[in-house]
Formats: sequence, structure tokens, C-alpha cells
Amino acid sequence: MSINYQDRIPNNVDLGSNRTLQRALEHWQPEFLKWWEDLGPKDFQVADVYLRTATSVDAKGWATYGYVRMPEYRWGIFLNERDPNRRIGFGDNYGQEVWQQIPGAYRATLRRLIVTQGDTEPASVEQQRMLGHTAPSLYDLRNLFQVNVEEGRHLWAMVYLLHAYFGRDGREEAEELLERHSGDANKPRILGTFNEPIRDWLSFFMFTYFTDRDGKFQLKSLAESSFDPLARTCQFMLTEEAHHMFVGDTGINRVVKRSLEVMKELNSDDSQVIRNAGAIDLLTVQRYLNFWFTSSLDLFGSETSSNAASYFANGLKGRPDEAQYEDHVAIEQSYQLDLPDGSGGTKSEQIPMRNAMNEVTRTSYVRDCEIGVKRWNRLIEKAGHPFRLNLPSTRFRRSIGNWAGVPTTPEGAPISAEQFAAHKPQWLPTESDQAFILSLMHGVHQPGKMAAWIAPPDRGINNNPVDYEYVKLP
Ligand SMILES: [Fe+2]
Ligand SMILES: [Fe+2]
Repeated sequence: MSINYQDRIPNNVDLGSNRTLQRALEHWQPEFLKWWEDLGPKDFQVADVYLRTATSVDAKGWATYGYVRMPEYRWGIFLNERDPNRRIGFGDNYGQEVWQQIPGAYRATLRRLIVTQGDTEPASVEQQRMLGHTAPSLYDLRNLFQVNVEEGRHLWAMVYLLHAYFGRDGREEAEELLERHSGDANKPRILGTFNEPIRDWLSFFMFTYFTDRDGKFQLKSLAESSFDPLARTCQFMLTEEAHHMFVGDTGINRVVKRSLEVMKELNSDDSQVIRNAGAIDLLTVQRYLNFWFTSSLDLFGSETSSNAASYFANGLKGRPDEAQYEDHVAIEQSYQLDLPDGSGGTKSEQIPMRNAMNEVTRTSYVRDCEIGVKRWNRLIEKAGHPFRLNLPSTRFRRSIGNWAGVPTTPEGAPISAEQFAAHKPQWLPTESDQAFILSLMHGVHQPGKMAAWIAPPDRGINNNPVDYEYVKLP
């Protein structure tokens, strides 16, 4: 199923056969480009960037690489191929035929789900727009821009669904996706994490590791949807999302590696000594990890959710990798939650499984997050240090759900507000941490050169060497 690049909007959905839809999207296209010029990566729009572009949606060779100026990137509409035998995989309608059109009863709910997902895509581009200036290498600069153009394409993916299946409401929502802006006091992005500024590259790597991974799990849930076009869109988005998490995973790995090199050179694990040498001490890495991991945990919503239960019952949003479960109806099962008891302790509660779907998804997410942490810790262990990076408890620093506003240690033990305040500088980035990290942020824009706070990557992109000119600056 190859992609039609002859049309103004590249696509594999035979857009040319639906003139009304094609015209509506061609009308939205210049608005998108204007948004990209205004709020996309600042000051690098005329640079030639070594980017991959999707050319077909099958597993082999969906990406071609070449130099592209970002505003000329071919943003388009790519869905995985339709499986004519696909059946509804969960909920009350389990086993029935999937939907090619939206049942009237679910229209508003599906629109909300698509808008909420769609809103995160341009939000992250806005959050990251200043980072080009301080990229630690051309390799990293290129990766940033690859992530940015693909988030732009993910916006296209959701806007296509809004235009194609939701009529006028959908078109209005598509416009509003370009009107809300990350951190805007009057018209912020929908979800909290996507209004947090990303001013430095340590935060960027944490974001791509933890927050793009939330994206992965949301997309996995939507890839199970009975609304087949949504499922197929998300399946293809997941192939792109993998690179974003790779950027975060290897980015943090390289920060840790550099820190360990300096610890060895100077024979010290004193944070100040490491900082004086221009590297990032591991305690600071841990604090940034605590911040972004916990912020991302909130994106899954409350532990108990009647919305999640009805999404599941109606077949709109499933569990990630639904096929791995034995019972796809999940009506007789229950789930055990540990909740705060209101007086400084915890209590156990059994809730119906369907109401626990957010927690089920969050738990799979946490398990996935642990994989990178183990890898980073292996480096630390091999270097002979007892220190280990840790994911904090899912109770820690929550703003949403049963643990919202309940002070706990990173291990999840409830404590008093005073104790929390006293320990906060050890657990979360302080102003002086942020000032220190910002002081390291200077752009390194010569091929093969790396900033002093990060180790070079093990290999380059698409079999090119690390010192390849990944971005040609004008
Ligand atoms: Fe995305
Ligand atoms: Fe992403």
C-alpha cells in the first residue's frame, strides 16, 4: 500500500476520490504551515535536515532518508492497511465486526478522545521549540527535528479523522488544535504535562523517554479501538513513536555515561565535583527523572474511572496489547487498589476491573519504563558505584487520582506536608539544579563535536557515522 506523493497532501487513503474532504484538508494545510512557522522549531526553518519520511506503511522500507527543509517535509495521512477480518477485540461488543463509520451514540466521546490525543502532538513541538539553539551536537539536533516533524504528522493523523468522520464539529476542533498553545494562560493545551516548559536537553530526554512513552500506551489503547480508522492510524503512529523513545533512552544513557567517565577521571562521586567538571551528577538525573516520570503518570487519569469503564465497555479504547489478556469482556473480574486512608496510612479496595482500566494501563507503562532504568543502572554498576537510579512509587507527587496531593516519600510511604517540604530539594529539581542545567546548555553545531555533559552516541543514524553532517546550517 504505497503512498501517493503526487497529491498536495501525501496520503494512502485515496484522498483524491473525496473532493470535499480533500478541499477541506487543503484549506487546513496552510493554517498548519503557518502554525509550524510561528511555533515550530525557532530559527532553523531554512536548515537542511537529514530526515526520514514515510514512503509506505509496511514494515520494510517505510522510511526514506534525505535532506529536507522542515517546512517542506511531506506531512501526510498514513493509515495501516485495512484487515477485512478484523473484529472488535474487547468489551460488550466483543467479536462483532469493527466499525468503518462512527455509531452515533459514541460520536461525542470518540471526538473527545481524538482531540485529546491530537492536542498533545503540536503541544510537544511548542514545548521544544527553543531547544535547537542549545543542541549538544548535530546528531541530537537532527533527532530533535525528526521528533518535531513526526509530532506534526501525528497532528495530521488526528485532524484527518476529525475532518473525515466528524463533519463540521470536526473541522472546528481541527482549527482549535492550532489555537490552543502550550503554556498559554488563556488557551493552554488540554493536559498538564504538555504545558510544562522544556528549556533544557535533560528535560527533553526525560520527556521523550517518559512522556512520549505515555503517548505509546495511549496509542496502543486506541489501536485496539473498534473504530477501525482510528485503530489503523494509531498502529502506524506507533512505528514513528518508537524513535522518540529511543532518543530519550539513549539520551539519558549518554548523560549517565558521561557522568561516570568524569567520576572515574576525578575519582569522586561528589555532586559538586562532577558539576564543576561540566557533567551532570547522578542525583540531579534522579531528580529530573522523578519530575517527568510522575508528571507522566498523571496522564493516565484516575485509578478508578467510570469513563475508562465505559470506553472499555463500548469498545472505544482498550487495554494496550489486549490480545495478551484471556478475558476480553472483563465484567466479572476485580482489581485491588492501594489507596490513602485519609489519616496517613493506606487501605486496600477491590474495584470492578473495567473501572480500573487506567490503572491497568499505567501499570504496563511503569513496567515498560523500568527497562531503560535497568540499562542505565547496568552502566553504573559496571563502573563500580553503589548508586542506582529508581522509578519513584506511583503514589509520589501525584496531581490526579487517589494520591493527588497526598505527600509521600519517593518510595510511596505517606508523610506529613512538613516532611515533604523538608525533603523536596532532594527529590525534585530545585531552582539551583535548573540554573546549573541551563548553564550547560550551549549549542554545539560542528559535525562530530559533542557538548561536555554528554557522551557521543554508539552509532549514527541510518548507518551514517556519528560525525555525519546531520544538519546543514545556512
Ligand atoms: Fe506523537
Ligand atoms: Fe512522540
